[in-house]
Amino acid sequence: MSKPLLRIDALESGYGASPALRGVSLTVESGSAVAVLGANGAGKTSLLKAISGALPCWHGTVRLAGRDIHGLAPHRVARHGVAHVPEGRELFPLLSVEDNLLSGAYARADRPGLKRDLDGIYQRFPILSDLRRRAALHLSGGEQQMVAIGRALIARPRLLMLDEPSLGLSPALVADIFALLKELNRRQGLTLLVVEQHTQMALDLAHKAYLMDAGRMVSEGDAKRFAETREVRDRYLGSGRQAIQGSTRWRRKRGWI
Ligand SMILES: Nc1ncnc2c1ncn2[C@@H]1O[C@H](COP(=O)(O)OP(=O)(O)O)[C@@H](O)[C@H]1O
Ligand SMILES: [Mg+2]
Repeated sequence: MSKPLLRIDALESGYGASPALRGVSLTVESGSAVAVLGANGAGKTSLLKAISGALPCWHGTVRLAGRDIHGLAPHRVARHGVAHVPEGRELFPLLSVEDNLLSGAYARADRPGLKRDLDGIYQRFPILSDLRRRAALHLSGGEQQMVAIGRALIARPRLLMLDEPSLGLSPALVADIFALLKELNRRQGLTLLVVEQHTQMALDLAHKAYLMDAGRMVSEGDAKRFAETREVRDRYLGSGRQAIQGSTRWRRKRGWI
């Protein structure tokens, strides 16, 4: 079998002295899409932050294509080809759409290639072309998510990590975003690591899924069969309305909807 693009072993990390990841292991094969599911506070965001270098690694290893990247600063992890679409998008609110997109390309020196890729992003998201001079602050949630994904794509990543891309979006937009992710993975071979509360969409996109709870991976398996496992069904799908209502309340509390 080929070497996995991302391999994490026994990773421990957290905030100050308080642990958020308690020995997490995960493997992402090159060209695959992997979903990480779990309730609020399970450690999903912390996992992506630890991979991208925004949280320290206390113990364990993070390897990208066999190369140890743990402990590197975020800009160095990005240079190795890891792009992170963070929870809540984190655009520069006062910068234009175009400057936000270009902020993802700081590590690139090839200006003609960059211009082509920027045009490619405007072709993919025509609405962003119309809004290219508008400050990110004035965009809708869906437009902001497109900019956040465009900013990640312009870095030409080997691994694209997305933290709750559906957050605060209408069902139609969520379907559009997931259709785009599927196309990027299936047609262009881009490797994806997606953290989602929208379990059904994530399992439809992913080849493999993991379930996190209290900083640990408690289950993993084939995404199509994963939905049938009792733990996932009971907690997230069976009476899925509860989980969805809970997360809606949480999102409202945080002012995202
Ligand atoms: N900035 C922070 N400072 C301290 N603790 C945090 C911070 N962010 C998250 N945590 C804690 O880390 C744990 C995992 O949180 P998080 O990774 O955000 O979970 P998820 O993304 O699955 O909702 C939780 O116990 C949470 O309270
Ligand atoms: Mg989170």
